[in-house]
Amino acid sequence: MTPGARIQAAVEILDRWLDGEAAEKALTGWARRSRFAGSKDRAAIRDHVFDAIRCKRSYAALGGAMTGRGLMIGLVRAQEIEVSELFSGQGHAPEPLSDAEMAAGEAPQGAAALDLPDWLEPIWRDSLDERAEAAALAQRSRAPVMLRANLRKTDLDQARTALSGEGIETRPVEISDTALLVETGARKVALSQAFQTGLVELQDGASQAVVDALPLTDGMRVLDYCAGGGGKTLAMAGRADARFYAHDVNEGRLRDLPDRAARAGVEVTLLPAGDVQGDFDLVLCDAPCSGSGSWRRAPDGKWRLSAGQLQHLTELQRDILDQAAGLVAANGVLAYATCSLLADENDNQIAAFLARHPGWTETQLQHWLPGPQGDGFFLSCLIRADSDATIDRNFSG
Ligand SMILES: C[S@@+](CC[C@H](N)C(=O)[O-])C[C@H]1O[C@@H](n2cnc3c(N)ncnc32)[C@H](O)[C@@H]1O
Repeated sequence: MTPGARIQAAVEILDRWLDGEAAEKALTGWARRSRFAGSKDRAAIRDHVFDAIRCKRSYAALGGAMTGRGLMIGLVRAQEIEVSELFSGQGHAPEPLSDAEMAAGEAPQGAAALDLPDWLEPIWRDSLDERAEAAALAQRSRAPVMLRANLRKTDLDQARTALSGEGIETRPVEISDTALLVETGARKVALSQAFQTGLVELQDGASQAVVDALPLTDGMRVLDYCAGGGGKTLAMAGRADARFYAHDVNEGRLRDLPDRAARAGVEVTLLPAGDVQGDFDLVLCDAPCSGSGSWRRAPDGKWRLSAGQLQHLTELQRDILDQAAGLVAANGVLAYATCSLLADENDNQIAAFLARHPGWTETQLQHWLPGPQGDGFFLSCLIRADSDATIDRNFSG
């Protein structure tokens, strides 16, 4: 396919997305109808579509219309490519711009320039203060592909060498001593031997840093209360010789965890949904949240979130914290994490927990902002107030 034909394909997929179809579904549907497209074409079209979703408001402003075509005109203008090169009408490329389209388009202003919904902008600014604009702009670019070296099976250097032998070049980054940033060959990772044999896992850098920051030691009983696919369970199991238990209200999400654990060479016990008892030395709640720290990976979420959903999420997080607190041993730790940047899901949620539970205190608080080494994340560690406590407050990213 020509570069212009790829743009036309993105226009069609974005029109479906704007009509309410999920982006992944629109992409798969297009690929099924377009058997002529090769893997490079599909990858390039996917990049166009996700770039446009991340930057929906600013591209629509630049392109002069909130349509698939308007978004792609905006993308081409934002990237300072000569529009007529791609909108040529030749070889399945989109038709040349009309006079009206040539005249339309303006620099985005306010929330549109930050690619945020209007209702969210004041909440975003209140939550992030002077970091608000940089954090919003960081969500406009593609996320890095990052790996975690599984210390149960390898070290960082061996993992890099094994990956390099399969055409995947990586470099270590400061955010975590297990993290590797993929520089080339990202699309080969999932089929590589290094991945298939459990030397590395795909995992964002800040997710790894959250696990590094946990007070995790050998011999502990550790519960991952909102384990989902088990990314953090496995990262914890890579770090300590402890007993790991995984739980999720949606048991289906744990489905792949036994295979992933076997591949990683670690043991994890799955617990039935809603039936967890016992005293754990560490309970991690990686709670369901707006995902606002990782919107560059899942940009649909930025435009789907509503004030009502945010309220619902904060209520869910409150209930999860209250349930999980009852599972923590007398001298144990309750760790609360989100991939959110919003204060109501983070600091305010913890302040409300401490107000409801005066017997608890916070020992550790850390924010990670989205950046070249990882997504935005939040971590707070809580213990019962009669334990010794030191407060560690930190901003990274
Ligand atoms: C952010 S995801 C977890 C991601 C996972 N820790 C990882 O690193 O791959 C949040 C998870 O919380 C689960 N969840 C939602 N409500 C819950 C509840 N009341 N109790 C336990 N888990 C819940 C969701 O099903 C979802 O899998």
